[in-house]
Amino acid sequence: MLKVSGLEAAYGRARVLFGVDLEVGAGQLMCVMGRNGVGKTTLLNTVMGVLGAGAGTVEFEGRDVTRLKTHERVGLGMGYVPQGHGTFPQLTVAENLQVVLEASGHRDRAAVDEALDAFPRLVPLLKRRAGFLSGGQQQQLAIARALVTRPKMLILDEPTEGIQPSIVLEIEEAIERLHGTGLAILLVEQYLELALRLADRFVILEGGHVVHAGEAADLRDEKVGRMLAV
Ligand SMILES: Nc1ncnc2c1ncn2[C@@H]1O[C@H](COP(=O)(O)OP(=O)(O)O)[C@@H](O)[C@H]1O
Ligand SMILES: [Mg+2]
Repeated sequence: MLKVSGLEAAYGRARVLFGVDLEVGAGQLMCVMGRNGVGKTTLLNTVMGVLGAGAGTVEFEGRDVTRLKTHERVGLGMGYVPQGHGTFPQLTVAENLQVVLEASGHRDRAAVDEALDAFPRLVPLLKRRAGFLSGGQQQQLAIARALVTRPKMLILDEPTEGIQPSIVLEIEEAIERLHGTGLAILLVEQYLELALRLADRFVILEGGHVVHAGEAADLRDEKVGRMLAV
């Protein structure tokens, strides 16, 4: 479904990604792991076209999207939840969802209801400004916003970062449910236990290279533990 080949990216002269390859099959949940600063966010931003690729290709459903703009990739079914959620703090929950609906090609209001079905806790908060939500609620809103675009694949950057443990479980369950509906997911996640429970496959990044790739069960490997240890 998503195929990344030889992807390179840089900030000015500082190269961050060095020929990253990875593939996410239909309905698969792929977890990208690695310590802080190894290039996980840069990888997702390059996959989404927020950052241009210096070399390599990104293919989505067999189509080369490397030169497409971010909104065009979203239109093809790549839903993105950036690190730090990226919701609009001054807008209400309802407005945050509405803005995405208006920007999306399909503009089918049912998409908002479907997104709220996935996160029913947002329903009583629809009139509240996003800036007044808890971290966990903001993260749920961020994922709901991506769902409004009717994605075929969801790309999530550390959705549990800085969130209290009781809510982490709720977000994990939401991701699991979405995966259960057949949605392909590319997830950056630092919690090993969560990755172990959710992932089908994983890659580990180190210094902008994929240093290890495997099935979720391999994450129990001692060698893998050392690659992730801080
Ligand atoms: N906007 C930016 N400008 C310059 N360097 C950046 C920028 N964003 C990230 N970097 C650098 O790129 C490297 C990878 O960062 P990032 O992709 O955010 O890592 P991760 O998500 O794995 O923590 C780090 O060395 C970071 O300092
Ligand atoms: Mg990051």
